[in-house]
Amino acid sequence: MITLNINKKTYNIDADPDMPLLWVLRDIIGLVGTKYGCGIAQCGACVVHVDGQAFRSCVTKASVAQGKKVVTIEGLSPDHSHPLQKAWLDLDVSQCGYCQAGQIMSAAVLLKEKKNPTDQDIDDAMAGNICRCGTYLRIKEAIHLAAKSGTKK
Ligand code: FES
Ligand code: FES
Repeated sequence: MITLNINKKTYNIDADPDMPLLWVLRDIIGLVGTKYGCGIAQCGACVVHVDGQAFRSCVTKASVAQGKKVVTIEGLSPDHSHPLQKAWLDLDVSQCGYCQAGQIMSAAVLLKEKKNPTDQDIDDAMAGNICRCGTYLRIKEAIHLAAKSGTKK
């Protein structure tokens, strides 16, 4: 049995503590916004926040998140009003959409650490998030737009 705090709710889960956090989120709890891409920490589709840091949930054991606060794309804001989510919609960033939850979650950590990131800051922070549709330019623009409009947790 493991106990996890996810998006401000407590879950008591009957699962192997070694199970990847991604499986717990998607298959047990049903939070399917976080995506499975590569399963080997190479694509960033599965990024969630654990105590405010970006974690690749495909390679993070559920036990690592015990006693910490996990936030998924569903919990980033109660009403999808996070500046990044608004900027993503304003600029129509998504193409197929598969990578985008991970992109936004990585960008959210960046904006918490750097309120006004440069292009280089964005390139550095987002380098591990792959987009097969090539939406990188719109992602960068959206991060700048969100930075201008201010971020909130
Ligand atoms: S699915 Fe986790 S990094 Fe690709
Ligand atoms: S929008 Fe399709 S993989 Fe990024």
